[in-house]
Amino acid sequence: MNTELKFNINGKDTSCKTYPMKRALDVIREECELTGTKEGCGEGECGACSIIIEGKLVNSCLIPAIQLNNKEIETIESLANENTLNKIQSAFLKYGGAQCGFCTPGMVMAATNLLKEYPNPNEEQIKEGLAGNICRCTGYMKIFTSVIEAIKLEGHL
Ligand code: FES
Ligand code: FES
Repeated sequence: MNTELKFNINGKDTSCKTYPMKRALDVIREECELTGTKEGCGEGECGACSIIIEGKLVNSCLIPAIQLNNKEIETIESLANENTLNKIQSAFLKYGGAQCGFCTPGMVMAATNLLKEYPNPNEEQIKEGLAGNICRCTGYMKIFTSVIEAIKLEGHL
């Protein structure tokens, strides 16, 4: 049976009627029409579906819709301002952190979460912060460089 869920997504109060055990990933992509969040493995392994719920990075493919209820949710769409990319997104563009781009929303959300937790992270913390996200294209070095350059723009490292 469908249930009405209410939550705030990217600063906007939203409600939708949906099956409570539907995956949060599907609710975000289908009901909220926010398709920036991607599905890779669908099994909690790749991080392509990463979103932030109440300040915590989670794999939305593993979360039932009911867990969105009354929560504050951030997706990749929250980061750019109108048509301007934020610093992390700009660094990915400039330093080749995105190739096919499929992992990119999840990587950028993981980097966002990392920098909230550690505004001036060391290399180990950066590696750990991105460890839940898999990329099949870049070999990771360009992603790592992109995150470091984004941190430098904040005057750190
Ligand atoms: Fe969710 Fe891979 S699609 S972790
Ligand atoms: Fe293609 Fe990461 S850029 S999977």
